[in-house]
Amino acid sequence: MKDLFEKLNERMGPLGMHADEAHGYFTFPKLEGPIAPRMKFRGVEKLTWSLNNYLGLASHPEVMKADAEAAAEFGMAYPMGARMMSGNTNYHEQLEAELAAFIQKPKVILLNYGYQGVLSAIDALVDRHDVIVYDAESHACIIDGLRLHIGKRYVYTHNNMESLEKQLVRATKLAETTGGGVLVITEGVFGMSGSQGKIKEIVDLKAKYNFRLLVDDAHGFGTMGTTGAGTGEAQNCMEGIDIYFSTFAKSMAGIGAFIGSEPQVIKFLNYNMRSQIYAKSLPMPMVIGALKRLELIRTQPQLKDQLWKVVHALQNGLREAGFDIGITTTPVTPVLLNGSIPEATHLTHDLRENHHVFCSIVVYPVVPKGVIMLRLIPTAMHTLEDVKYTINAFKIVKNKLDSGDYRQEKIAAFA
Ligand SMILES: Cc1ncc(COP(=O)(O)O)c(C=O)c1O
Repeated sequence: MKDLFEKLNERMGPLGMHADEAHGYFTFPKLEGPIAPRMKFRGVEKLTWSLNNYLGLASHPEVMKADAEAAAEFGMAYPMGARMMSGNTNYHEQLEAELAAFIQKPKVILLNYGYQGVLSAIDALVDRHDVIVYDAESHACIIDGLRLHIGKRYVYTHNNMESLEKQLVRATKLAETTGGGVLVITEGVFGMSGSQGKIKEIVDLKAKYNFRLLVDDAHGFGTMGTTGAGTGEAQNCMEGIDIYFSTFAKSMAGIGAFIGSEPQVIKFLNYNMRSQIYAKSLPMPMVIGALKRLELIRTQPQLKDQLWKVVHALQNGLREAGFDIGITTTPVTPVLLNGSIPEATHLTHDLRENHHVFCSIVVYPVVPKGVIMLRLIPTAMHTLEDVKYTINAFKIVKNKLDSGDYRQEKIAAFA
């Protein structure tokens, strides 16, 4: 037998095992100052590309004012209790109604957080007779929702419709014997690769198979579609999405999330989602702040236009400079390089310390061994000058990587 705490040392995980060298630098870094492309890291200004503040709403003066006034009027405690018991307000219901109108779904339910919202929605929507079919590159909140599902689940190869159909055949066969239904889950925008889920093609499969579709559009809401209503709007198939999810943590630059669906589904979720029934309701400043953010998304399309101007400049510039940015068709911009984890850490360190460019680094096991992914999130606040500067810095570090300058035997301590 072993002591439980002793065992934790052996189970630190792929990132945790580097905690001593990386903490405070690669992991848990502190970016200080107002949220903007230029923020301070360890007292020095850096050009940041890792905040999902797509539309620049985090520090928009009208947003800051709405947040501050709501906090002054209501404090952070109000309302007390879960929505069902004592935590409901007109503002919560107004936000749900405005979100529903914006995404053109009959009803919306507000959620406290996206991660636990998706997990809890999956838990509520299916029982042991039902079968889930999901994309292999699904976000952790979907994977953890699946862990709660005691029925069968089938995974299909990322965005591969042949594989999805194969799994739908299996799922249908099984559901016919159990008397259950089938739930297909994909993301709208995959947050690592920037690829879009093939929602339109999945919706078209409804002509052949009987299933309901849940789309996690965390990165698509606000950035995709003519009005910013998300990837369903961009692919012109919003009505085929049975359960539309997004979070306030990205374009909306806040906290909270929501699901839009048919009235009967939202009523069911209101009375059966454990993460909402057994948890305190969203604080008023979050709700009033979200109303303001939604108003700006609706009334200031120039924010999304500016975002896309930066996205196109960045992605075209990187491609023209010979970088592999994969198959993104969304603002998420991965830059794929070849190298080891020590090389990745030295390259990122060089970028951050000598070029003052701050971006997130993604290595194995999120990407295959030998691949270094630097993930850039352009926003409406970045300028074309920022783009030019960054591409130039990337060219310099890539040359050094290719000439072996970052080859070191072990990860240096940066913490
Ligand atoms: C695809 C996806 N779903 C859900 C979430 C979770 O959202 P939240 O930060 O509101 O918990 C995220 C955020 O990281 C995400 O990228």
